[in-house]
Amino acid sequence: MAPTRGWSITGASLEALLCIPRNVFAIIWAVEVMTGEEFAISLGDENRAALERLGRLSAAGEAPQELTIERLLRIALKNELEASEVAAMWMSTTSELDVKLAFARQTGDEAKHYRLIADRLKALGVDADRIDPREGGYSPLFDYLRALQSTTARVAAGQFTREGIALVRNQCFIDFCEGLGDVETAALYRDVIQPDERQHHELGRRFLVLFAATENEQQVARDAARRTLELAEEIQEVARLKAGISRAPGC
Ligand SMILES: [Fe+2]
Ligand SMILES: [Fe+2]
Repeated sequence: MAPTRGWSITGASLEALLCIPRNVFAIIWAVEVMTGEEFAISLGDENRAALERLGRLSAAGEAPQELTIERLLRIALKNELEASEVAAMWMSTTSELDVKLAFARQTGDEAKHYRLIADRLKALGVDADRIDPREGGYSPLFDYLRALQSTTARVAAGQFTREGIALVRNQCFIDFCEGLGDVETAALYRDVIQPDERQHHELGRRFLVLFAATENEQQVARDAARRTLELAEEIQEVARLKAGISRAPGC
C-alpha cells in the first residue's frame, strides 16, 4: 500500500466566532499532515538524539572490575526472553496479517538469540540451564509494551524504537567484548544477533510508513516511541548507578 498524503481539519468553523454563514466558509483551514514515509524519517531523527544519549550512558565511565561478559550475558538472556514474549503476545492479538507474521518472526528470532547466548555462556563455563531470567520479575519496559493495544503503537515502540535501542546497546557491548579480547562473543553479536535486530527495526520502519499516515496515528506512534525511550533510559541509568552494568546488550 503506497503512503498517501492526508489532510486534517485542525481549526473550528469561524461561523461560531464571527457569525459567518455556514455556506460561506465550511472549512476555514486545513493543515497538511506528513505522509507515513515523512513521519518515519522524522521519528527516526527524533529517536536518534535520544539513542545517542543512551549510547553515551551505556559507554559512560570506566567499566568496574566485576563487570564481566558472563554477567552481562545473563542480563541479555532476560532482555531476549522479554522481547520474544512481548512479540508472541502481540502476534496473537494483532489483526493485520503482515504485522502478525512479523511478530511471529521476531518471537522466533529473539528465542534463537536466547539459545545462542545460553550456548555462549556454557562455552564460558556457566551452567546456563540453571538460569531463570524471570527471577526478579519483568522490567517496567516489558509491562509497558505488553499493555499496548494499537498496532501503530506496537510497531513504533516495540519494533522501530526498542530494536533501535538494541542496536545501540549491542554495539556498546561488542566494543566492550573486543576491548577484553573476547572475539567470539563479539562475533556472535556482530554477525548473528545484530543483523536480526536491524531487520526487526526495519520492519518497524516499514509498518510505520503504512500505519502512521494520519495525524492521530502519528501522535500515537510518537507517544509510544518517547515512552519506550524514557523507560529504556531510566533502566539504563538505574543499572549504571546501582550495579555498574550499563554495558549490557539489548534484545
Ligand atoms: Fe530484536
Ligand atoms: Fe534479540
